[in-house]
Parts: sequence; C-alpha cells; structure tokens
Amino acid sequence: IKHLRSAADLDAATATLILDTAAEMAALSGREVKKLPALRGRTVVNLFYEDSTRTRISFEAAAKRLSADVINFSAKGSSVSKGESLKDTALTLQAMGADAVVIRHPASGAPHRLAEWVDGSVVNAGDGTHEHPTQALLDAYTMRSRLGRLDGLKVAIVGDVLHSRVARSNVLLLTTLGAQVTVVGPPTLIPLDTAAALAEKTQVSYDLDAVLPDSDVVMMLRVQTERMQDSYFPSAREYSRRYGLDMRRMRRLPEHAIVMHPGPMNRGMEIAPEVADSPRSTIVEQVANGVSVRMAVLYLLLGGK
Ligand code: CP
Repeated sequence: IKHLRSAADLDAATATLILDTAAEMAALSGREVKKLPALRGRTVVNLFYEDSTRTRISFEAAAKRLSADVINFSAKGSSVSKGESLKDTALTLQAMGADAVVIRHPASGAPHRLAEWVDGSVVNAGDGTHEHPTQALLDAYTMRSRLGRLDGLKVAIVGDVLHSRVARSNVLLLTTLGAQVTVVGPPTLIPLDTAAALAEKTQVSYDLDAVLPDSDVVMMLRVQTERMQDSYFPSAREYSRRYGLDMRRMRRLPEHAIVMHPGPMNRGMEIAPEVADSPRSTIVEQVANGVSVRMAVLYLLLGGK
C-alpha cells in the first residue's frame, strides 16, 4: 500500500506484516542497534495541526531511527495562522521533496485530501473524530505481545466512543484480525446511529460491569470534553461511577486480562490512578511499542532497504 489513511486500508495479511515487521524493529533496537540505515536520504514531514505528545514524538523517533531526514511542522507558529490552506501547505511540502507526510488534523478526512496533492505517502496520525490507524496498530501489537494472539481475543472498548478515532480504528483493525470487540459506554456517547454503524462488526453494551468478567482486554477511552456539548456528558462524577475503571471494578476482570488506554488520560475520571499504574496496565508499554510500529509503517510504505 502507498498510504495509511484508515485501518480499513489494511487487510489481515498487510496488518500482520506490519506487526511482524514492528517485532523485528523492536528486536533490533533491543540488540542496541539504535539506528538503521533503511530510510537514509528520504524525508519524512510531521504535519501537526492538532496537539500531540505521544504520536508526534514517536513518529519523529521512528523516522530518525531509520535514518530519514525529519521535518517537524506545527500549525501553531506557521503561515497557517495567516490563513494558508492545507492545499497550499501541502504544495509547499511537495516542493521540499517530502517522501512521506504524517498528518494530524482536526478535520475528519484531511489525510484523504492531502493524498490528492502530494506525491509521497500519507500517514494519518489522527483526523478529527474519524481515525487513528497507527494507534490501533500499536494497540494490536501490545495485545499480541502480552496475550500471544489476536484471533478470538475478547476486547472491550469503553467510554466516549462517539468522539473516538482510536475506537473507530481499533474496531476496524481488530475485527480484521479476528478479535471480538464490544463497545461499552453511556447511550449519549454511543447514540443509536453510531451503535447501528458499529453493529455490523461489534457488540454494543451499556453495562460495563456485565462485560468485564468475559474480557481479555479492556481499553479505556479518554473522555473528550473539548469535543462535547453538555447534553453528552451531564456529570463527571456520574460518568466515573458508571463507566470509570477503579480497583473494585478491575477485580471483575479475569486474572490474565490487561488494561489499556491510548493516552492522554483523565486520571480519576475514566481510569483511577491505581489502575493506570497497576501491573495489569500496558499504558507505558503502548507508548514504547508505538515507536517500533511506526518504524514498521514508514519502512514498509517507503520501501526501505
Ligand atoms: N494517543 C495519542 O494519540 O496521544 P497524543 O494525542 O499525545 O499523540
């Protein structure tokens, strides 16, 4: 494939190739090979119109570990503030010879538009409430490395499903790879049209306590208050009581089950601090795995040697 705009771009064989390549990248890094020459002479542009900590840093680290030249572009402080359009910004990057553009943008579909204007590969690093495919890949990688398989794995994705690009990409990727996904949350955050759209691929539940005992993985989502109107989210306390993962609720999980969160977290809202920091939590591991997975994506898209 040339671009990674959606988890739907990946069939099971391609997704598995990315996960296997990421495992090789991790093994090489573990053997103290800090830098590989695979993308020497290639240019990767990180084009970020929205804030990011994990994704931006790990794409930068991934490209540098593959010896690519990296240009970091943040909309803040650029000519975007003078009204420059995405298209004109894209043409500027094109003139600088970008082999890959990694884009985060508040508008759903921005990576698809960008791919029409640049010759290089486009990687979606999160577009609005639409998708975040490399997050889903690093999540799948983490599940596979912790639990040994994805096929038949029971995964509960919990919380603000409506606004979550992480949930959408995970549903697409995990079901492609044979996992059984249940999305869980309050009806206001899984409204009927969202539930209907998801129903083809997943189960939908509004009762977290009922779902936990039969889950191998519970993935807590950040409550995205910045994307909400009050009607979606009447009370943080009530949300936490019904859908927050605290120690008492975590004990309902089977012994082997893991707890995930893509970050950034609202500690004390969707996840209690003791749960986030517990041995079952893979949150820090997910961030570390993100570098290997993004190395694999850049390597495979750019045909690294
Ligand atoms: N998980 C994730 O996308 O985090 P950032 O917003 O910090 O990149």
